[in-house]
Amino acid sequence: MNVPLLDLVAQYHTIKEDVLRAMNAVMDRQGFIMGPEVAQLEAEVARLSNARHAIGCASGTDALLLPLRALDLEPGDEVITTPFTFFATAGAIHNAGGKPVFVDIEPATFNIAPAAIQAAVTPRTRGIVAVHLFGQMAAMEAILPIAARHGLGLIEDAAQAIGARRKVDGQWRRAGELGTVGTFSFFPSKNLGGFGDGGMMVTQNDQVAERLRRLRLHGGARQYHHEEVGYNSRLDTLQAAVLLAKLPHLEEWSRARAERARQYTEAFTGHADVCPPAIDPANHHIFHQYTIRVPRRNELQAHLKAKGIGNAIYYPLPLHLQPCFAHLGYQRGRLPASEAAMDTVISLPIYPELTRDQQDAVIDAVLGFYA
Ligand SMILES: Cc1ncc(COP(=O)(O)O)c(C=O)c1O
Repeated sequence: MNVPLLDLVAQYHTIKEDVLRAMNAVMDRQGFIMGPEVAQLEAEVARLSNARHAIGCASGTDALLLPLRALDLEPGDEVITTPFTFFATAGAIHNAGGKPVFVDIEPATFNIAPAAIQAAVTPRTRGIVAVHLFGQMAAMEAILPIAARHGLGLIEDAAQAIGARRKVDGQWRRAGELGTVGTFSFFPSKNLGGFGDGGMMVTQNDQVAERLRRLRLHGGARQYHHEEVGYNSRLDTLQAAVLLAKLPHLEEWSRARAERARQYTEAFTGHADVCPPAIDPANHHIFHQYTIRVPRRNELQAHLKAKGIGNAIYYPLPLHLQPCFAHLGYQRGRLPASEAAMDTVISLPIYPELTRDQQDAVIDAVLGFYA
């Protein structure tokens, strides 16, 4: 049985009419730039994230770049982050004029280790980018006090975690709610994906929101007047229309993902070779990815491929070992938990439309390899 890693066509069939109606409304109006759908989606995402402000932008990458630009980094200023993430997290730090400082992850959750952040703070540190990887939040209760103690900007890269929650000091908090800025990606494969690129930033801070709104429009709050040099980074109205049509399904989709994760974990638990992902008990995980750790990972990958089972390695080379960051001087062995993850992880198909038969085929293929 062929099981794709993700089946967006299956999802589209379930919502096609609503999406087309929403897109047609924009096309009938021929109003493609900053139409009312953008503000509507911003209001919805602000509500979803318990945030005062939400500001749409052109991608999840720009959603990181703009708040990093708002830190006004000087050459040599440092921003601490995880190397076990999508490239954009650190690329944005570099492009905002900062120096990425990579610290290791907690092996169980793949998320940045707060103690490692604290150990890496120097007089040049200006910010932290914490990533909520694969759909579960980093340990915000431990990261927030570090940021507060040293006066650092704290950006939550929630590209993979829209709607995720974490119990912080006894209260459920949403991804993006607690940092200086939280960022989302609407890349098509995300839990809430558009029909192209898109992103959003959320913040509780009025001044930060104003700055971000300015930066996304060439640095000028008023047309043709520019306080600083910014970007053309608007969220397309058509994308906002698509996302508004999809948003009412997000919670049910994330629940369906979590249910499929539970079924995988039930099948893999106790197996000598297959280590299912850990859910931190403080987290409500939205399972953007279901990532196991295994021995002989590359052989398993070839086996799955031969059987028509989609899979992916997120991530095959941590960012501290990327050629473009060689000048930062990291060697292999420096961040052992991230490096161990890169050699052992493999992500399996997980999406709301994944059928029980498809999932059984994935489970049989994985367990069959180790039998
Ligand atoms: C953790 C993380 N950060 C940032 C991004 C960048 O988002 P985009 O592709 O929308 O630019 C992504 C996804 O692509 C991501 O997974």
